[in-house]
Amino acid sequence: TAIHCLNGPNLNLLGTREPGIYGAATLADIEHDLHERAVRLDIALTFRQTNHEGELVSFVQEAGRAGAGVLINAAAYTHTSIALRDAIAGTGVTAVEIHLSNVHAREAFRHVSLIAPVCAGVIAGFGPYSYLAGLDALAHLLRGRSS
Ligand code: DQA
Repeated sequence: TAIHCLNGPNLNLLGTREPGIYGAATLADIEHDLHERAVRLDIALTFRQTNHEGELVSFVQEAGRAGAGVLINAAAYTHTSIALRDAIAGTGVTAVEIHLSNVHAREAFRHVSLIAPVCAGVIAGFGPYSYLAGLDALAHLLRGRSS
């Protein structure tokens, strides 16, 4: 099973970025823990971050060509990017949307996700554990389990 974990803008700043909201873990810390869990689940994990919308679109297309599932924290592009939504829909990748924070408990503009309708499901509000739970959920889907 192959999974590409894709991270959008400003997530490279985790650790120092609004720690009251996003916590103290860096993206490298999250990547490390996710890799450990992926090894245990026998998942080939690719982990990427970009601040550029078009590059995020290209990453989704690459995952599609590789036949990989997509675990995506699109950050602010979650709420704005029709191009990202079209990439997920157009490639037909199985995607799980994740967020560190509970976006529904925050500003109204974060309550809308343009990508949620083309994702299998959404996990938000558990800090770095959202990534681990998302990996489990996506692996479960990709392996076609029914329970
Ligand atoms: C985020 C939530 C988004 O609203 C925000 O723009 C981010 C991070 C999260 O992981 O909680 O950059 O995706």
